[in-house]
Amino acid sequence: MKIPYGKQHITHDDLDAVAQVLQSDFLTQGPTIDLFEKAFAQYIGVKYAVAVSNGTAALHLCTLALNVNESTNVITTPITFAASANCVRYCGGNVFFADIDPTTATLDIHKVDALIKSKPRGFFKGMIPVDFAGYAVDTEAFRKLANEHGLWIIEDACHAPGGYFVDSKNNKVNCGNGQYADLSIFSFHPVKHIATGEGGMITTNDEALFQKLLLLRTHGITKNPNLLHENHGGWYYEMQELGYNYRLTDFQAALGISQLKRADEGLSARRDIAQTYERAFKSNSKIEIFPYNEGHAYHLYIIQVSDRLGLYNYLKEHNIFAQVHYIPVHTMPYYKQLGFKVGDFPNSEMYYAHCLSLPMYPTLSIDEQQFVIDKVLEFINK
Ligand SMILES: Cc1ncc(COP(=O)(O)O)c(C=O)c1O
Repeated sequence: MKIPYGKQHITHDDLDAVAQVLQSDFLTQGPTIDLFEKAFAQYIGVKYAVAVSNGTAALHLCTLALNVNESTNVITTPITFAASANCVRYCGGNVFFADIDPTTATLDIHKVDALIKSKPRGFFKGMIPVDFAGYAVDTEAFRKLANEHGLWIIEDACHAPGGYFVDSKNNKVNCGNGQYADLSIFSFHPVKHIATGEGGMITTNDEALFQKLLLLRTHGITKNPNLLHENHGGWYYEMQELGYNYRLTDFQAALGISQLKRADEGLSARRDIAQTYERAFKSNSKIEIFPYNEGHAYHLYIIQVSDRLGLYNYLKEHNIFAQVHYIPVHTMPYYKQLGFKVGDFPNSEMYYAHCLSLPMYPTLSIDEQQFVIDKVLEFINK
C-alpha cells in the first residue's frame, strides 16, 4: 500500500462524463469548454473564465495579455513552482524575488514594499503572489500596494480553488475571484483539487483582458465578424496577434465539470485531514506546523522538522511518499545563471531546509491518516 502526497479521485460519473463527450461531435473547440468555463466562474464567483491546456499556459497567456516584454520587471516569491516565475521569462521580462513571510510561507508584503521602494518609480510593472499550499494571500493588501505604484497583479491560485481570506470589510474573498487581482490562474494537474490530466483556467473581471486571452489562446485568430478587418466569406478568419494553441479539449472539460461538482466535498475532506494532523502534531515541540486556517484550501499540508531528510527517508521506507514544496526557485541553475544565489532569500532557504508535505487528498482514509501520523511521531520521538 503506497501513500503518495497527493492523488486524483476519478469516479464512475467522471468516466461517464468523459465517455459522453468522446462519443459526441466535438473532441475540442466544442460546447463543453464553454460549460466548464461558466461552471468554474460560478464556483469561484468571478465574471470570466478561460480554459487552457495547463496552468503554465495560463500564466504565459496572462503575461502576454499584460504586455510583458524585455523591459518589464515583475516580483514573485521564491517558494513556488518554477512556472510562476518562468511566465515572465517567456516574454523576455525580468524576474525579481521578494522573500517569504515565514509564518505563512507566502510572499512577504513588507519585503515587496521595500523592493519596490528600492527602485525608481515605474521600475516594476507587476507582481505575482501565490496562494501557496492553498493559503489565500491577502490580495486586498497587495492591491493597495500595487495601486500606490501602478502595478498589475496576477494571482497564482493553482493551489487554492475554494480558498478564501476575509477582507477589511469582513467579506470572504475567494481566491481567483478577480476582486483585487487583475488575473488569476489555476491548474488541473492530477494532484490539484480538480483534475483534468493537464488543464488550467484563467479568471478575471476585466472584459478587455478576457477578450485578449480568448484570442491569444487560439493562435491570435478570430472569426468574429465584428472584429474582422476584412471578410471574404464564411471560411474567413484573421490572425490578429501572435498567439498559441493553448486550448483544453472538450473531454478534459467534461472531466473538469464532473470534478467541480465534488469540489466542496473534496475541500471539506482536506480541511478535516488538516485538523487531524494539527491535533496530532501541535503539542510536539519538534514539529512546526502552520496553524489551522478555515479559508485555507489545503492543497498541501506542510510540517517543518529539523531532520527533514531523515523523516522523508523514514516515511519512504514505510511506503509514505512525502514531498518537498518547493526548492526555492532562485536557487535553480537557470535562475543562478541570471545572477541569483543561495543566501539571497534567507527565509525561503530556511523554510526549504525543513519543510515536508505530508499526504493530503480527499480519499486519504482515516486509517491512512493515522498511519502517517504514527510514522511521523515514531521518527520524531526516536
Ligand atoms: C503554484 C503553481 N503554479 C503553476 C503551476 C503550473 O501548472 P501546470 O502544471 O498545470 O502547468 C503549478 C503546478 O504544478 C503550481 O503548483
